[in-house]
Amino acid sequence: MGERIRLDYSNMLKAVPAVEEEIEKARPELISAVESVEAKRNEGLLGFFNLPFLKEDAAAIKETAEHIKDGYESLVVIGIGGSALGNRLLHAALNHPWHNKLSNVQRKGCPRVYVLDSIDSDHLNGLLDILDLNKTAFNVITKSGSTVETMANYLILKDLLEREVGPHRAAKSIIATTDASRGSLLQIARRSGYRLFYIPGNVGGRYSVLSAVGLLSAAVSGIDIEELLSGAAQTAGECTVADPYQNPALMGAALQYIAYKKGKNISVVMPYSDALDYFGDWYCQLWAESLGKIKESSGRKEQLGQTPIKAIGARDQHSLLQLFLDGPDDKIFTLIEIERRENSFVIPEPGEGGIDLQYLSGSTLEKLLQSEFNATESVLTKRGRMNYKISLPQICAHTIGQLIFLYMLMTAYMGELFGVNAFDQPAVEEGKKITYRLMGRPGY
Ligand code: PA5
Repeated sequence: MGERIRLDYSNMLKAVPAVEEEIEKARPELISAVESVEAKRNEGLLGFFNLPFLKEDAAAIKETAEHIKDGYESLVVIGIGGSALGNRLLHAALNHPWHNKLSNVQRKGCPRVYVLDSIDSDHLNGLLDILDLNKTAFNVITKSGSTVETMANYLILKDLLEREVGPHRAAKSIIATTDASRGSLLQIARRSGYRLFYIPGNVGGRYSVLSAVGLLSAAVSGIDIEELLSGAAQTAGECTVADPYQNPALMGAALQYIAYKKGKNISVVMPYSDALDYFGDWYCQLWAESLGKIKESSGRKEQLGQTPIKAIGARDQHSLLQLFLDGPDDKIFTLIEIERRENSFVIPEPGEGGIDLQYLSGSTLEKLLQSEFNATESVLTKRGRMNYKISLPQICAHTIGQLIFLYMLMTAYMGELFGVNAFDQPAVEEGKKITYRLMGRPGY
């Protein structure tokens, strides 16, 4: 067992004095949310629960990662939504912030990793300018096997790759990650002899980061995927009981749910860490696509969901914080603090003319950031703004695994509390069908 991340709701008690009574009132709903998640898990519907324990899959992923490390300088992940954001999250959180700019020696022989999750020709052209196709592997990821953006990018890149290195080498350079039973990518991959990873049928896109979807590119870039999974397994083991005081994922869901019922339609996640920037994007997709739903009961339609917003401390203190403090009281804030950082910078003497900066001298950048974190939680609390914090002892594979699992489970509980299916995305599917029609796909 490694160091634990912690959820601390004490600010909530100060900002909203009756919150413990609210939790008590919600207890029957919380219990039934846990029971319902457990029942779905036992029926085999919630595959994300199993991911931290699939040791054989991790071994196969590591074996392919070694093959890529041996033969390639770069890996391009082609995907979108849940088939790309988790990859971005892991790289930003756990690799050197300028991983792709480092020399091969500095990267310890681990390839550069790029994520292609847009269909912007200018962006693609820019990427091609910096890639040597002879030394680039591609991991094309799509659960459905037919997502238009992913498959369009794949077809273009495969064509360019085959022209550059020939069909045989191209087939060795492409790894497909998809569903085991359906979709065009599966057929293409089998015919072309690509290495293949399967995404379990019961794991949806935005819950798939701990499967081959997120783990292959992570392992290629040198991230310890076993530690990541062991962190997730630790949280899975700690979040089982139907008591919010003993189950942090349930407490998180309870606070968000109570806030929502009090009109907090916006959920802000604010990590004080640049490395967690893409965690914020991943969270936004998870929360928005899972919970933004129409609920129909007794002939009534209710439009539900909380709008997720990412803010980064200290950067967004000079952008969004004014609104957070003086704007409408329609938000709940999750502040994420990092207790220990790997690096430290002492702020030097300002010298002549810097008398007003003297107070900084001898202090550290980390102390400044922590002071800003403390100031933000204090001022939010003083103004009665609902906020709580999650503390990571440090950023490492183990704590990031915990954070990811905590959020996936919290989202599953929220789905039950809202009474919606947190695992589909019907409105997105509708848009996809219109695109197919506009692009002339038969049958649409
Ligand atoms: O979370 C989801 O299910 C979606 O965001 C999908 O990941 C996204 O639409 C891409 O789908 P696919 O993996 O089928 O290409």
